[in-house]
Formats: sequence, structure tokens, C-alpha cells
Amino acid sequence: MTVLIINIKQLVQVRQNNVTVVKGKEMADLPVLENAYLMIEHDTIVEFGPMSELDEIEADEIIDAKDRIVLPTWCDSHTHVVYAGNRVGEFEDRINGLSYEEIATRGGGILNSAKLLAETSEQELYEQSIKRIHKLIRLGTGLLEIKSGYGLSLDAELKMLRVIRKIKKELPITVKATYLAAHAVPKEYKDNKSAYVDLVVNEFIPTIAKEKLADYIDVFCEKGYFDVEDTEKILKAGVDHGLVPKIHVNQFNIIGGVEAAVQHNALSVDHLELLDDNDLEHLKGSRTMPVALPGCSFFLSIPYTPARKIIDIGLPLALATDYNPGSAPSGNMNFVVSAACIKMNMTPAEAINAATINGAYALGVSNQYGSICRGKKANVMITKEIPDYRYLPYSFGEDCIDKVLVHGMIWDL
Ligand code: NIG
Ligand code: FE
Repeated sequence: MTVLIINIKQLVQVRQNNVTVVKGKEMADLPVLENAYLMIEHDTIVEFGPMSELDEIEADEIIDAKDRIVLPTWCDSHTHVVYAGNRVGEFEDRINGLSYEEIATRGGGILNSAKLLAETSEQELYEQSIKRIHKLIRLGTGLLEIKSGYGLSLDAELKMLRVIRKIKKELPITVKATYLAAHAVPKEYKDNKSAYVDLVVNEFIPTIAKEKLADYIDVFCEKGYFDVEDTEKILKAGVDHGLVPKIHVNQFNIIGGVEAAVQHNALSVDHLELLDDNDLEHLKGSRTMPVALPGCSFFLSIPYTPARKIIDIGLPLALATDYNPGSAPSGNMNFVVSAACIKMNMTPAEAINAATINGAYALGVSNQYGSICRGKKANVMITKEIPDYRYLPYSFGEDCIDKVLVHGMIWDL
């Protein structure tokens, strides 16, 4: 099966070499080919170039992309899209003056979602989740990470992770699973958090690793949740069982989690709404990708990750949705890219790099995804008629995506 896309107004994020991460000043460079073609064979990008160099227009399927932009699909490296129900009640409570932390202290928040999840069957959880993901692919997401973490008991965590495994199997997109081992302290362990951490380390992690249900290990390292000592214990146990750390850190407070994550060779540190010079120093020279989640900042009205500080000292940055029922109930990467430009002062080029190649890096697969490069997987999206790639973040809230190709196949759900 061959697909040829012709007359592409701008072919965006097009790389001659297989670049796997872009950092600092490089992030401002988003290579664009005007009036281009793109040739796909089965699930792979095989050729591209200016239309003037295309000898014959021949393929099993020809798509005319006149006045349209083509770019790699979004790589969303941080979601909690497998969840039950919603938290619209808490949304209204916050509008009426309660803070996210106050709601959590009253037993709402993550514990609320854990209760809903416990009452939901595995099949029902799968159906709710897959529906959400179908919509995301339509909006251009072609690579997705999904976390557990609303289970809090071994049985319920296993239920979530089995749902993620089924999603991996059923969907044409690549999905990575993260065991969010310590997301909130369950009620029963309220006064004995260390017993819960021990349980996670000694029973949950070994079981989950043995069943090969997760690629990554995650902890919510935050005041009122898990401190640095808990985080280190859990990351170490995860690493000992072959899981790679990717952690929630610096969302509301700086408590030393970035340093701990870097020391455990984390692939990413996510949130970073707060970030100090010490954190930046630790990130320099590490392999750890900072990941910003502007949808969460928008929804909770908390600070945005200081993207300029991060990029201007030469670090890379990735963007993800954090799609979850409590702090970011949207998985729309187009909005995330807009918010990054509008609220974090990232240029459209930087934001698109952060949402494609650097997102793929934060999932360990940027050698295969995240740019238009010969030999890479054919995950590309074609916009509606728009004047320029910068129009994507500029026209925030507009749905500019027309067609999405996943591994060379047109997504038509
Ligand atoms: O990434 N911060 C921790 N976890 C999620 C929110 C979870 C929830 O509120 O349900 C986050 O924001
Ligand atoms: Fe999250």
C-alpha cells in the first residue's frame, strides 16, 4: 500500500537526518518545505521533496493537500485518560471558591476518582476510555502515554493497567503505559503512609513488573502526597524491576523532586509549574526531559511552566496534555500548543517541536516518531485549508485538523 500526498502548502517538521531531540536555541528551528510531496509505503515515510522533483504521480492512494499543511501527529507523553466518570461537581466547587488542595483535603480529588473507578467494571472503564481516545486521534494525537494511579489498591491498579494493555492492542497508535504507583495516599493509610509506600515497593511494583503491564514508573512528588524519600524508594524499586522513571513534580511546591528524578535517570520530569535555579542546574547535562502541561495550568489557574527560562538556558522542553478528570479534563494537543504560545511565550516553532519530536523523546521513541523523516513511522496529519503553520496555535479553539494518518492508514472514526 502506497500513499502519496501532493501539493502540500507547507510540509512541517521535515528533517533530513533523524534528529531525536531539540534543545535550547534549536527549538526555534522548525524546518518547513513549501509546495511539497510526501510518499508513504505501508507504515513508513519513504520520500519527500518539492513538487518540482516529483517524477510521476502514482500510488494506491493520492491525497491532494493544496492549501493545506502537513505535519507529524502530536506526541502526547503525559495523560491519565483511563478514568471513570468525571469531576464536574468539583469543577463547580472550585468556581465557587474552593482550591484544588482544599477539595483534596476533604477527600475529593484523586480519591474521588479512585472511588468512581472502584465502582466501574473493567469493560465499562475500557469503553469510556477508548471513546475519549478516538476523539484525540481525530484531533491529531498519534502517540500516547497513559498512566494508572486511580486504583490505589493492587486490584484496581491492575484493572487500570489491563485496560491500558487492551487499548494498546486495539488501537493503531502506539501507546505507552505508566504505573503511577503513588498518586495519593489511600484513606486507610492516612496515618501510616510509609506502610503504603512499603506495600507499593514490596508487592505492587514486583507484581506489575512481572506481568509486564507497564513501561514506566511514576510518583506524585508533592507536599501532602509523597515526599522525596518516598519518591526515591519507589523510583529505585521501579528501576530495579526494569521500569523507567517519569515523575509528577513541582506542581504546587518545590521539595527537591527534580534532583531526585535526575539522580534516578528519569526520562522526564512533568509539571514544573514552579522551578528554581537549583532544579535547572540539575537538569543541565541530564537525559531528563522537562515536560510542561499548560492545560493543567489553564484549568486550575496556577502558574505556567517557565518555558523561556528552560529553553533560554539551553534545555529541551516537551508539551503534553495531562488529560485527567481533575486538573486537565481535555486531551486536545492543539489547545496545548496554542496555550504554550499564548501563555508561555513559546514561538509556534518551539511549541510544535515540543509537541512532536520532544514529546516522542519523553516516551523513548523519537527515533521512530515526531518528525517527517525517511524511515520514520508515517504518523502525519493534514490540516484544513489554512494559510501558514503558525495559524494552528494562533486560531486557538478552532479545529484545523482534517485528516490523520496513523502508521500510514487514514483514521476515519
Ligand atoms: O497530573 N498531580 C497529580 N495528578 C494529576 C491530577 C489528578 C487528579 O486531579 O485527578 C495531574 O495533575
Ligand atoms: Fe498528570
